Amino acid sequence: MKTFLAVTVILSIILSAHAACEVCASDEYCDASTNCSCNSTLYSNIGKTPEPKIDCSGGTMNVFISKCWLEKNGYNSTNITLTNNTCVAAREIVNDTALMTLHRSLAPGDCGNTLYVNSSHVIYSNHLYIHAKTSPIQTRNDVNLSISCVYPLNSTITLNVTLKPVIGTTVINIPDTQTTLPVNMVVYKDNIFSTLLSVDDPLYVDSTVYLSVYIPDINVDTFKIKVLRIYASPAENGPTFDLLKDGCPTTGLTANLLSVANNGNSSESRFLMKVFQITGYKTLNITAELQICTQNCQIDCSTQSKSASSQGNTGFVSVLLTADELYENSSANTFSLTWTLSSVLLALILEKLV
Ligand SMILES: *[C@@H]1O[C@H](CO)[C@@H](O)[C@H](O)[C@H]1NC(C)=O
Ligand SMILES: *[C@@H]1O[C@H](CO)[C@@H](O)[C@H](O)[C@H]1NC(C)=O
Ligand SMILES: *[C@@H]1O[C@H](CO)[C@@H](O)[C@H](O)[C@H]1NC(C)=O
Ligand SMILES: *[C@@H]1O[C@H](CO)[C@@H](O)[C@H](O)[C@H]1NC(C)=O
Ligand SMILES: *[C@@H]1O[C@H](CO)[C@@H](O)[C@H](O)[C@H]1NC(C)=O
Ligand SMILES: *[C@@H]1O[C@H](CO)[C@@H](O)[C@H](O)[C@H]1NC(C)=O
Ligand SMILES: *[C@@H]1O[C@H](CO)[C@@H](O)[C@H](O)[C@H]1NC(C)=O
Ligand SMILES: *[C@@H]1O[C@H](CO)[C@@H](O)[C@H](O)[C@H]1NC(C)=O
Ligand SMILES: *[C@@H]1O[C@H](CO)[C@@H](O)[C@H](O)[C@H]1NC(C)=O
Ligand SMILES: *[C@@H]1O[C@H](CO)[C@@H](O)[C@H](O)[C@H]1NC(C)=O
Ligand SMILES: *[C@@H]1O[C@H](CO)[C@@H](O)[C@H](O)[C@H]1NC(C)=O
Ligand SMILES: *[C@@H]1O[C@H](CO)[C@@H](O)[C@H](O)[C@H]1NC(C)=O
Repeated sequence: MKTFLAVTVILSIILSAHAACEVCASDEYCDASTNCSCNSTLYSNIGKTPEPKIDCSGGTMNVFISKCWLEKNGYNSTNITLTNNTCVAAREIVNDTALMTLHRSLAPGDCGNTLYVNSSHVIYSNHLYIHAKTSPIQTRNDVNLSISCVYPLNSTITLNVTLKPVIGTTVINIPDTQTTLPVNMVVYKDNIFSTLLSVDDPLYVDSTVYLSVYIPDINVDTFKIKVLRIYASPAENGPTFDLLKDGCPTTGLTANLLSVANNGNSSESRFLMKVFQITGYKTLNITAELQICTQNCQIDCSTQSKSASSQGNTGFVSVLLTADELYENSSANTFSLTWTLSSVLLALILEKLV
């Protein structure tokens, strides 16, 4: 027992003697209480107000400000907040420098973010509050800075393909605003949604294509697309077939032609569709009726009560597939229908809503 105690005591002496700071930045040093403290000789107090760096890449509002600059200049680095003061900056070492940082998603309302949309930009704003040190004396005023992330709405769409892609576009308005967002619909030929179907790609009945309905130009996942209905018809007058109704695949004649990869939980909705022919017609016009949500509006198709409400403004977007030739008949096994896509991009609509 004595030996054990002695070993324990020796061990703890060794441990405390060797206790050291966690990693300190190059503008800090490890102080006597084994905290990283600012090396104040590296900064000067020049009476300026703080100039945080704001970086809005990746759909996140990132705020960076030097911890040691703040402390040298009379500010309290421990209570830097956004409008909602539960959002507090934390110490982070970036580029070997001690910074106070905030990384917040750009959801409207998050940390008190406000969303403003004008005809050309989406703007997320917030306020950054930096408090003066109050002890032993206060030499600075508290600071209230307006910060924002601005994204253009209508930059050029760069699909970067040489072939003419199949694309439909529309605009739809954002709930509770007077503003519209563009929405595109495209067709991919691979299941990772990376290669656009072009006018030169043959398509065969019974093969699968991949439909995407998405908001271009903005990498922020603030807006969700909910596709309520997808239907197919010939470009000329003819019968209409529903593939998706109330956000869920249909049953009956068109059952299993379309399945949902995701819908209502991001700025892109994705579907898998089997290529099919409407007997007697060379064209297949695929139209999606959609809404924009500002929150997750995923539809659970497994429940019986599919009550996808379609109140609110809806828009429509279409793509057109055109058959080269019409093979009216042949044995089921050899039947193959080559489709090419209309090089005409279809612009769509749409309803501009109240
Ligand atoms: C320094 O470390 C001590 C003990 O580890 C802790 O109680 C104290 O709050 C720290 N001080 C600062 C300024 O972080
Ligand atoms: C603070 O930085 C200066 C300049 O780099 C350096 O000479 C000094 O040793 C540092 N002080 C501490 C306590 O590390
Ligand atoms: C930080 O500052 C805000 C605004 O002055 C205040 O409401 C909050 O209580 C402060 N937080 C702490 C931990 O002191
Ligand atoms: C501030 O944010 C917290 C955590 O996200 C939330 O619970 C609280 O309701 C928010 N306060 C206000 C006034 O929005
Ligand atoms: C860190 O350094 C890189 C490269 O110099 C720079 O691009 C980046 O903005 C720096 N990060 C911060 C938060 O200053
Ligand atoms: C929309 O807001 C942005 C950012 O504030 C501004 O640069 C732009 O001029 C505004 N556009 C219009 C049409 O008011
Ligand atoms: C800094 O702010 C914190 C939290 O509000 C507070 O506990 C602390 O006393 C302040 N420090 C100084 C030097 O004013
Ligand atoms: C910060 O400034 C904005 C306007 O610039 C104002 O609306 C807000 O009330 C101010 N916040 C505080 C706590 O004074
Ligand atoms: C996009 O910009 C073009 C040219 O600047 C303009 O004609 C068009 O109306 C804009 N579309 C939207 C949806 O703002
Ligand atoms: C567009 O494609 C060309 C040729 O494939 C390539 O050189 C270029 O880097 C691409 N541009 C972008 C922005 O991806
Ligand atoms: C495809 O269908 C949509 C909706 O019914 C319609 O607005 C559009 O004009 C059609 N396109 C063609 C080429 O017929
Ligand atoms: C959306 O839902 C699909 C299917 O439920 C899921 O695979 C995907 O990860 C979700 N995406 C996001 C951004 O939540």
